[in-house]
Parts: sequence; structure tokens; C-alpha cells
Amino acid sequence: MQENKEDWLKMNDFNVDSASDDLHGGHSFGDLTDGEDGGAVACDSSKPQQPHASARAILSFVRRSARLDARLEKAKQRYSGAYLLCIADGDGSLRVKSDLCVDSQWIEANWGNANPLIVEIGSGQGENIVAAAAANPNTNFLALEVYDPGVAHTMLLAGKQDLRNLRIAQVNAPDFLAACKSGVLAEVWTFFPDPWPKMRHHKRRIVQPSLAKSVHNALVAGGVWRIATDIEDYALHVHEVMDSLACFENDGDLRVSLPTEHVGKGNAQDAADLPHADFVESRRFDGRVLTNFERKGLEAGRVIHDFAYVVKK
Ligand SMILES: C[S@@+](CC[C@H](N)C(=O)[O-])C[C@H]1O[C@@H](n2cnc3c(N)ncnc32)[C@H](O)[C@@H]1O
Repeated sequence: MQENKEDWLKMNDFNVDSASDDLHGGHSFGDLTDGEDGGAVACDSSKPQQPHASARAILSFVRRSARLDARLEKAKQRYSGAYLLCIADGDGSLRVKSDLCVDSQWIEANWGNANPLIVEIGSGQGENIVAAAAANPNTNFLALEVYDPGVAHTMLLAGKQDLRNLRIAQVNAPDFLAACKSGVLAEVWTFFPDPWPKMRHHKRRIVQPSLAKSVHNALVAGGVWRIATDIEDYALHVHEVMDSLACFENDGDLRVSLPTEHVGKGNAQDAADLPHADFVESRRFDGRVLTNFERKGLEAGRVIHDFAYVVKK
């Protein structure tokens, strides 16, 4: 059954101020308070952002200690001085330091110039951000990643090319965004975020209203939050979080049919039989290279969903 998207939004009472609590099997905007992931957000970024927003927050990752192999350990020793920004609290939580203030002086101090800054949230092995930094030497790039091997691998790739415009920070990304001053970022990228497929884990998905609020504040007017996922249910989740925010414009021109109800790990096979509606998405961002995550998604026959949300201020 094909619904009109506006009808669907109305039917589900889908605005960020009055979302219904029982929407989509337990995942809702109403059950989380501001400062935790998912508070009701009207994108009023004039309100001060809260550093350490993750102190009580639901995290989008599980802290895993992973031993680095000899190659990554060597890369870490060799390149940390050049690439790693030490902005974590130091208590092992990966929160940013409480006094971190990301403004133009901070950028100048860490990159040595005032070029536009693009931040990738969850940069994984670094294939994408390293390729982008190499292709755009007059743009500054910051990779935010929590996983030790990913951080080390990104440094390895960057070091091999002697890139000067890339930095890496091993911190909880929503914390970093919350510490940004208004308009300091040119773009934010979130490609193939962890899917958290179980229904009860959907609230751990990193794209949340609270993050949208921080991203909106951090981006310059006209700046873009680019998102990509190979998980159909995550695509619906992105539309739910983003499409009703008046402070972002969905810049896409593709019409994509998606189920209008969520599925989880146990009932994913039911998705095709659920009611569908058309949504607007973007064509593939040509600054995005094929990473291992995307390749695996394609090999499994999944469709890639690209989004570009432009900031209105
Ligand atoms: C599925 S991987 C995708 C990696 C990369 N974007 C790509 O396309 O290859 C998602 C990554 O996000 C990272 N991540 C999850 N939550 C994060 C957070 N709160 N802050 C920073 N990184 C996070 C994970 O460690 C993981 O490396």
C-alpha cells in the first residue's frame, strides 16, 4: 500500500514537538529527554550547546578494547604526534574535555589555517576521509572515531600520503558536535552508521534529534549534513529524525519508496509487506568513496540511501 508521505507524517503525528510515544514499536522522540540522545528538538540552536552531553546519554557504540597488530601499533607510534588531537577527557569514557570550545581559533591552532572544516562522524578505517583530504588540500578534515584500530588505520593511510589537512580525534562524536560554536563547520558526514538492528536498540542509533540540533548549530548557513546507509530501516529512521526539522532542507531529488513502520532483527523479513510511502533522498555524493562497509552492503544486495540536509539559519 502506497501512502503519501505528508499523510504519513500527519498520521503519525510526526513533528518533533508532539511525537507519539508508541510510534514504531518503542522508538520515539518522546521517551528521551534533552541532553540524552533523542530529546524533543525544535532546532533552536541559539540555546547554548551542552558540553559533555553524553554524560547521561545513550551511546551509539560499545567500548571495545582491541589489540593493535604490529603494523597499526607502529602507525600509532609514528603518526599520533602529527594527526591525533588529544581532546578526550582522559577518563576512558571518550567524552571530550569539559572546556573544549571548537571555534575559529581552535581550528587555526590545530590546522594552521582558516580553511573550511569538514567533520566525519564515525570514520571507521578512514578510507573515505583520507581520500577526501587527499583530493581537497584546501579543506580541513577531522575524523571522529571511537575504535582504536580505526583510529590507527586512519593515521596509517594519512601518514603514507603525508596529508597535512587531516586530524583525528578519538572521542564520542555527539560530544564534539555539542562543543562546537555556531557556524564553525562547513559539512558533517555520517556514512554507514552502526545499524543497531534490534528494535530495542534503535535508540542507540547515532542520528538522533539531539545530534541534529548540535549539527545544525555547528554548521554554517548552507552547510550540509551528508548521511548514507545501506539499511532500509535506518533510512526510515533518518527521515523521521530529519524531515520534519524546519531548520534543515532535504536537498534530494530522488523519490524512494520505504516501509513506514520499523522492523527489527526478528521481523526484518516483514518489511516488504508493510505499508510504504515515498520519501526524498539524494543521489550518491560523489565525494564518497566505496568503503568496506558499503561494499559488504552492496554484496548482500542492499540498496544505498544517500541524504543531504542543508542548514537554514
Ligand atoms: C559501520 S562503521 C562505518 C565506518 C565508515 N563511515 C565507513 O563507511 O566505512 C560506523 C563507525 O562509527 C563509529 N562510531 C559509532 N559511534 C560513534 C560515536 N559516538 N563517535 C564516534 N564514532 C562512532 C564506530 O566505531 C564505527 O567505526
